[in-house]
Amino acid sequence: MKVAIMGYGTVGSGVFEVLNTNKDIIAKKAGLELEIGYVLDLRDFPGDPVESVLTHDVNDIINDPEVKVVAEVMGGVGAAYKFTKAALEAGKSVCTSNKELVATRGCELMKIAQEHGCRYLFEASVGGGIPLIRPIMTALHGDDIVHMKSILNGTTNYILTRMSEAGAAFSEALAEAQQKGYAEADPTADVEGHDAMRKTSILASIVEGKLVSCDDVHTEGISAVTATDFKYARKLHAGVKLLSVISRENGRVSAMVAPFLVREDNELYGVKGVKNASLICGNAVGDIMFYGSGAGKLPTASAVVADMAEAAQCMAELSASKQVPAWTEEKADIVPFDEIKNASLVRVAAADEQAARKAFGDIREVAPVEGEFAFITAVMSEKDYNKAAQGLNVISRIRVDFKD
Ligand code: HSE
Repeated sequence: MKVAIMGYGTVGSGVFEVLNTNKDIIAKKAGLELEIGYVLDLRDFPGDPVESVLTHDVNDIINDPEVKVVAEVMGGVGAAYKFTKAALEAGKSVCTSNKELVATRGCELMKIAQEHGCRYLFEASVGGGIPLIRPIMTALHGDDIVHMKSILNGTTNYILTRMSEAGAAFSEALAEAQQKGYAEADPTADVEGHDAMRKTSILASIVEGKLVSCDDVHTEGISAVTATDFKYARKLHAGVKLLSVISRENGRVSAMVAPFLVREDNELYGVKGVKNASLICGNAVGDIMFYGSGAGKLPTASAVVADMAEAAQCMAELSASKQVPAWTEEKADIVPFDEIKNASLVRVAAADEQAARKAFGDIREVAPVEGEFAFITAVMSEKDYNKAAQGLNVISRIRVDFKD
């Protein structure tokens, strides 16, 4: 079966490499050979093996009836949306790592796929190489998912790990992550949590079966996390992790991304460097965890190629599975952020100690650094936290993911 790749950047060149290197293995497992007919990119790559199949015109792909499966690894929501839509309308399955597009137009694109007898698959859009979406959508059919706590951004996990273990400066750790090809073109999307927010929106929409848009995901990045926060974390036998937290209760769903203190006895504590993980709690299965490389050329390409193989089997009618949109456009019932409850580590100036004690009441003191008063609050709603913190000079506040 002829396939095409749209985009020859980090992930696109990885898909090209995996399809070539593992050609025989894929053929054996999928029951058919995937032959790369075209690679679309605006640039030229003199001397690169891609040259023989390189095109600058998307119509070469769309108008070739032999091309049945397309990988969209261009990123962005402009041309990527237009080309994906055109490919699906031409009856070609599209497999993508483009979380921005899936989070914003995924439902529409899945419906177009359904109408045209093809598939829109996006395993690589969340958790890089970790099989996460397919297990949730198949292996966990017997469960009602109660909550998911995940580390979904490799770049920020890499930065936080390097800051914690090597005392690296933020900018130094970010430069390393960029150089290794983990970061987004604009790393603000990583650092400010927008990348994790998109992935959270996709996961929450899948588990809820209704749209949880990016606007529904309260998002805080890691740019305010300091070396002093890590000092407190060490005192508490904890690390700082950018967590995606999705909770479902009484027909409502809440989703947020923020830095959390995660203690050593939590499975997510050991997730270091560029690794991602998702700790899922189902009402029947209990806790299960998925772990692996959340970013990088070959891990992400592995997930795209797995989708391409599945789509190819479907297109060749070797498998009966047809696209069923993972979520509908109906808005999920979202828990207002004000109602979400967590405990927090709060640092205030030493002079604010009495005021903080009065405002928060039930607190646990943490041995402070000089000139500060630090404490862990009771589990309280965002609304109650903000009320208590009003008038205090809060140096920093990090939510904690442990109860005692
Ligand atoms: N910039 C993303 C990350 C790439 O660091 O996780 C994978 O989505």
